[in-house]
Amino acid sequence: MGIHCITHVELAVPDLDAGRDFYREFGLDEVSPGELATARGGRQLRLDRASKRGLVELGLGVDAGLDISRLQARLSALDAVSQRDGDTLRVVEPATGLRVWLTVAPRIPPLTTKPRDLSEQRGARRVDPRDRPTPGKLGHVVIASSDAPSTQRFFVEGLGFRVSDRLANGAAFLRCSRDHHNLLVQPGPRYFLHHMAWELPDVDTVGRAGMRMTNLNPDHHTWGLGRHLIGSNYFWYLRDPAGNFAEYYSDMDVIQDDDNWQAGDHRVRDSFMSWGPPPPMEFLFPPDVFPNTNEMQRGRASGAT
Ligand SMILES: [Fe+2]
Repeated sequence: MGIHCITHVELAVPDLDAGRDFYREFGLDEVSPGELATARGGRQLRLDRASKRGLVELGLGVDAGLDISRLQARLSALDAVSQRDGDTLRVVEPATGLRVWLTVAPRIPPLTTKPRDLSEQRGARRVDPRDRPTPGKLGHVVIASSDAPSTQRFFVEGLGFRVSDRLANGAAFLRCSRDHHNLLVQPGPRYFLHHMAWELPDVDTVGRAGMRMTNLNPDHHTWGLGRHLIGSNYFWYLRDPAGNFAEYYSDMDVIQDDDNWQAGDHRVRDSFMSWGPPPPMEFLFPPDVFPNTNEMQRGRASGAT
């Protein structure tokens, strides 16, 4: 009982049409202007025009109204002011200003994988631009907070998220479902959205989908194909026109037994990958948040001192 999924995110983008085009091409279905759906999670992405990119709202699903009452009590113990309206609860995470919207929602059905059809003569197919994958759900969101301990406390003590793993820099992988993580809160100079991750059924689909987006526009490509060490998911990261990273992923670790899971403390570099290319500088330091770091890097690459 409690929170079981991310129902939706509301994303601010400076160019709404470019954002809609990107996420349609990425594989989401636009059900109304600026509102896009996954195959199993439904309407999980809302795009709004604003001067700067950012995650404005995080929607979380609970099983019943009773959960809302219980969570409201936990939040008030943290002095977080929430507003209840029937089966929904609105609260603002104080350190980031992120709006969190809780509502009673059905559980997202689990992924069912179908075994390969052995009548097929060949397993691999060409990457085809018409072969648009539809992500099953929005699996996780990664944000930075200028007060990461306080933001993590809000989600863990206030909303009942569990800690799956921690990094030496103070980042914490948090879950509200069986997935290894649904939310990663990392320290940063200010609040910003790092990436959202969209589930595909297997590594072949991740590779094909990432290659397809890169073929359509090489500027979309950011980092991949690889496999993370923490969480174990295969990944390919792309960049939307606003500068948010959008991850295709598959095969994330599933935590079946909450009580016997031991949260580990890991080195930051272990958060990158088990295998794959090294992460690019822009992934580690998004240029709109760290303009000087990227300037320095460009200077080094061009031989300037
Ligand atoms: Fe991720």
